[in-house]
Amino acid sequence: MGNCIDRADALVLAHYYAPDVVQAAADFVGDSFALAQRAVASDKPVIVFCGVSFMGESAKILCPEKQVYLPAPDAHCPMADMATEEEIAAMRASVPDLAVVVYVNSSARLKSHADVVVTSANAVKVVSRLKEKNIYFIPDKNLGAFVAAQLPEKNFYFGHGCCPIHNATTADEARAALAAHPGALLLSHAECPAAVRAMSAFVGSTAGMIAYAEGSDAKEFVIATEAGTLYELSRRCPEKKFYPTRTDFLCADMKKITPEAVENVFAGNGIPVEVEAPVADRARRALRRMLELAQ
Ligand code: 13P
Ligand code: SF4
Repeated sequence: MGNCIDRADALVLAHYYAPDVVQAAADFVGDSFALAQRAVASDKPVIVFCGVSFMGESAKILCPEKQVYLPAPDAHCPMADMATEEEIAAMRASVPDLAVVVYVNSSARLKSHADVVVTSANAVKVVSRLKEKNIYFIPDKNLGAFVAAQLPEKNFYFGHGCCPIHNATTADEARAALAAHPGALLLSHAECPAAVRAMSAFVGSTAGMIAYAEGSDAKEFVIATEAGTLYELSRRCPEKKFYPTRTDFLCADMKKITPEAVENVFAGNGIPVEVEAPVADRARRALRRMLELAQ
């Protein structure tokens, strides 16, 4: 057991998919882009990251001088490993004028082979600013297709990964939810399949969906993303109603983060996130390039 962590020394970050009680106790709740920005801006020596492992790793890579803890170190996004270094090497060898764009939902090792990292909040802007004509977008085929549809001047090659939870929601479910709530608008995460995205009033990141709902005159919304997002939606828009496309729209890994697990970190029982130096150094370049190009 290590030393207890003073709460005053720590910034507690939570993703919108963390359980409601964990979000309620955090210093800042956001999407993966805003959380990375907040980690970089923090002057606290410790970050307690209530998210999945790629989020904690990215914070550690961007802030090597800070101690970063994941309350649930085994909370792992399955998409993080849905591309390989060999696939990247093969593409680099065969396609000229190529940028390798790696979605932040990926292992540190994959990021270390990226020209730039993106999140769902900034992918269109960041890719539009790359000079290369050819874009290899991995691992998420759904987000990749969403970005490609907005950038016809680029030539895209896609990975084969996806979020098993977002990819499982269907247009039939969305239609049924809209039929049950006439007048509601459908808001989707960009990780959803094409048929769901095509029906949506808005497609983007979790923070984008929340901002859209907040700014819209509509009073009811069908939400195609992880159910934890409903907590912030209801908090920000108490007069509006939100319905998920499916009742089990849940990320089991995000739900491993409990208040007890957070307490355990403060009690000195956490294991700091470490990323081996050569991997972290290369991945940092790609993450920092994202922060620059997303400005
Ligand atoms: P955001 O980029 O909206 O935070 O989404 C992250 C994620 O894991 C979506 O499944
Ligand atoms: Fe990964 Fe999907 Fe969970 Fe997001 S919702 S962290 S993409 S498994």
